[in-house]
Amino acid sequence: MTERGRPILITGANGLLGQYLVKVLIEEGQFLVATGRGVCRFLHAEVFKGTPQQAPSYIYADMDFTDPASIRHVMDYWKPSVVIHAGAMTQVDPCEEDPLKCYQVNVEGTDLLLDAAKAVGARFVFVSTDFVFDGAAGPYKEDDTPAPISVYGQSKWEAEKLVMRSGLDWAIVRTILVYGTPFSGTRANIISWARDSLQAGRTIKVVSDQWRTPTYVGDLAEGISALLRLQKQGVYHISGRDFLTPYDMTLRTARLLGLDEALLVKVDASTFFQPGRRPPRTGFIIDKARRELGFEPVSFDEGILLTLGLTER
Ligand SMILES: NC(=O)c1ccc[n+]([C@@H]2O[C@H](COP(=O)([O-])OP(=O)(O)OC[C@H]3O[C@@H](n4cnc5c(N)ncnc54)[C@H](OP(=O)(O)O)[C@@H]3O)[C@@H](O)[C@H]2O)c1
Repeated sequence: MTERGRPILITGANGLLGQYLVKVLIEEGQFLVATGRGVCRFLHAEVFKGTPQQAPSYIYADMDFTDPASIRHVMDYWKPSVVIHAGAMTQVDPCEEDPLKCYQVNVEGTDLLLDAAKAVGARFVFVSTDFVFDGAAGPYKEDDTPAPISVYGQSKWEAEKLVMRSGLDWAIVRTILVYGTPFSGTRANIISWARDSLQAGRTIKVVSDQWRTPTYVGDLAEGISALLRLQKQGVYHISGRDFLTPYDMTLRTARLLGLDEALLVKVDASTFFQPGRRPPRTGFIIDKARRELGFEPVSFDEGILLTLGLTER
């Protein structure tokens, strides 16, 4: 539980993870300030599948975490007991193409939030990525040494180091290839892309030389919530449990839905030009999260059904 009277503040609340964090935390009865850039782009009714009147209340605040005045305005007013920093510039290629902007959002933004958290004595939970690793020797555990190979990965690793040295009560949750359907807005994911393409009879080329442990977004939100509840500190790897290539993910989707797997064509990542390098073999060992947080993710097959709305939690 949070300290009475002081909320949990979330950044990136309009994002995929942010929306699920809002849902999970307010269903637990937490007092929440959900922040995002501009207006709130998710609606109570969509998050709760009920009427707006039935939805538990929370506060939404417009906060750009690269703007010190914007941060001060919100943080000084609400004085949160915990900051969950889920917001970021998350797309690898735009980060590679605009490294200054990436640094400003992912590193300087984190630094500004850390200062604000210090000023109000808040715990700090930072959401990071498998892209801090070079992908030469996955799956990785928490104490393996980061060696990013992209601007995005480097920016998240720089931000991690700021968090670790902040002197705050901190935790870092690293995750991998987060998938699921947002409650509001659209977002591409490999599962619906495969379903839509195969249903339309289109052949698709899918990478078969990159390995991940893809993460169902609802599991990630629940893992972060457990970490808060149990007041854990330090680094945690939270991801799915199946070690798969993108080709494997589309094959599983095709088989589960009875679609034509002959339309899937295995290719190497080098087939596509991408400005940002991707680590070939990441994946996480999630024993620590299982042991200390009671974290147990769904299988990828269950994640497919959840993502496509074919089953519910
Ligand atoms: N998705 C993945 O596969 C993945 C994998 C590993 C780690 N992660 C990490 O997990 C976290 C959540 O990712 P996600 O998938 O939920 O990402 P997302 O859907 O892209 O959400 C990120 C959110 O951050 C917001 N944001 C960016 N700059 C901001 C700023 N200056 N001020 C306020 N808000 C700002 C974005 O706002 P707008 O909507 O206005 O752009 C967006 O809503 C990120 O830290 C990411 O690095 C994600």
